[in-house]
Amino acid sequence: MSGQISESKINEIRERTDIVELISQYVSLKHSGANHTGLCPFHSEKTPSFSVNSARQFFHCFGCGVGGDVFSFLMKTEGLVFPDAVRLLAERAGVELEEHIPTPEEEQRERQRERLYRVNEVAAAYFHQLLMEHPSGEPARQYMKLRGYGRKASGEYQIGYALDSWDGLRTHLEDQGLAADDARILGLLRPGKQDRGDYDLFRGRLIFPVYDLSGRIVAFAGRVLDDSKPKYINSPESPVYHKGRILFGLYQARQAMRQCGEVLLVEGYFDQLALYRAGFPQVVATCGTALTSDHAQLLKRYVQRVVLLFDQDAAGKKATFKAMTVLQEEGIPAAVIELPKGEDPDSFIQMAGKDAFRARLEKARSAMDLFMEDVLTEAGNGIEQKVRAAEQIVEQISKLSSELEQDLYLKELAQRSGIDLEQLKQVNRRIVGRVQQHKNTFSAPPVESYPLPEPPLPEERHEQHLQPAKESGSMPDWSRSEETLLCLLLQNHVSHKKILMAGGLALFNHQEARDVAEILLEKSTDSGLDLATLADELAPDKVRLLTALSLLDKGQFDEGVDEVFSGCLEGLQRELKKRQRQESIDKLRKLEQGGDTGTMKDANNLLKQFKNLK
Ligand code: GTP
Ligand code: MN
Repeated sequence: MSGQISESKINEIRERTDIVELISQYVSLKHSGANHTGLCPFHSEKTPSFSVNSARQFFHCFGCGVGGDVFSFLMKTEGLVFPDAVRLLAERAGVELEEHIPTPEEEQRERQRERLYRVNEVAAAYFHQLLMEHPSGEPARQYMKLRGYGRKASGEYQIGYALDSWDGLRTHLEDQGLAADDARILGLLRPGKQDRGDYDLFRGRLIFPVYDLSGRIVAFAGRVLDDSKPKYINSPESPVYHKGRILFGLYQARQAMRQCGEVLLVEGYFDQLALYRAGFPQVVATCGTALTSDHAQLLKRYVQRVVLLFDQDAAGKKATFKAMTVLQEEGIPAAVIELPKGEDPDSFIQMAGKDAFRARLEKARSAMDLFMEDVLTEAGNGIEQKVRAAEQIVEQISKLSSELEQDLYLKELAQRSGIDLEQLKQVNRRIVGRVQQHKNTFSAPPVESYPLPEPPLPEERHEQHLQPAKESGSMPDWSRSEETLLCLLLQNHVSHKKILMAGGLALFNHQEARDVAEILLEKSTDSGLDLATLADELAPDKVRLLTALSLLDKGQFDEGVDEVFSGCLEGLQRELKKRQRQESIDKLRKLEQGGDTGTMKDANNLLKQFKNLK
């Protein structure tokens, strides 16, 4: 059945479906006030946070944030696409669906697609027969055997072989009376130069057909039988193939995926084959492309969790975290399995066996967890690097669709980084707020990373504070004691009163520190500093300083706030004296050199001062 269902039909079906009755078939609901409540079918919980509002024909879970109408409920529970959910409910509600009458252009496109599927199907049968029977298919049969696959696997996937010839497929398609035009659109044939005819795209390669969800072949991937390059070539995109929406193996894996509620996502065709055969049929591969949000939505129809199994190198890790982000944005938790360096799932199974793989699968850890560890490890112990790392992680956490999850990871981050949880939460709120604002206005600038000071110069790394790369004008010009004091103030370890009693703003020797202290004394309350609100009224450089301060490690105060506080005051006194002494020395020098018109009396005064300052 093709064609569009009109908006008014959809509304009619929604109106005629009783959402409480529908959901009651899946969830036991209790009446409470205007709503019905029950245990959420989309996440596991012990107290009901799933609520159905029959007046608004809407459901929502306060635990996992899932919500929607009758159609989305059915899509989620039954793994249906929208039109199928509509059809099912139409039938249930007794609504007749009149089919959309296609325009001539639509009909033409549809006919073309049918022809393209037909060409792919004929090509696949041709390649397959070459692999299974043809004498020239021997090298490919040997290759499959070498990799451990017999006729069964080749049959199930309809794997094939393309002859090492320029016109094997071309001739075959001609014999079958199929138009070269269509084969060209599919990329199977390529136009030759001048008046040399078309030639085959795949030559001397093992052929993997790529199926869509209806089991139609939409593309092919071809692997060389030796070490030559390129290792793989793939069908180009075409009216029937969009690689961002197709996953290799999904057609074979979806049943198992639905059953176990999770999917293993791998990079390679052979990885998919290997896991499938080893007893992990819930596996799909991206077709040589990064995971897209369309992929994620597709997976969401079948599973509650995606286990990522990418290459164990830097690029693979990058791909893992990128995929994690894409999945998170669709509300799908991502886990990772780590394999020994240099192994892919296929080689690992060959080497270590399926039990070893199962053990690793059971120990799959959350991708966010790995991300956190990775970023923090890379940052090391330098305070500024740690602050940046935390900022990067909070940015990632803020993308999680569930607030509950955000909270859990923020707690984890606080524990691992030693940074105060409340401060992390504040940064998170701010990022979330910004994204929200961006979403609401559209005109707002894109979300950039949270502004923080640049990392220090290498020789200053040992200095555990925000003290500054000197040539950068935007760096705070303050001392360690000043910074610690500001931290104490910011984190409410010392009261405003105590600071004021000790000397107030005059305590601070540097202008920048004094400015920040002034803001803190003026704006912070018992519940801390609301950076999100202040951001609008303060200069950006001040906001940056305050943020950096708020992210500083609190562990340094563990020894006792009072000691730290008096240590700071002493430090500040020392600094003050040091500076005054330096000023005196400078003046004395000038006097000695006669570069100043000061009198002997001045010099004596300075000497006296200098002694006092020792
Ligand atoms: P085998 O060597 O057959 O086990 O393949 P593999 O999947 O382990 O290869 P690799 O890790 O090098 O590549 C992973 C995936 O990236 C492949 O399955 C392809 O989808 C894609 N890929 C690898 N090499 C190429 C290439 O040369 N061209 C293109 N277009 N894609 C490639
Ligand atoms: Mn491999």
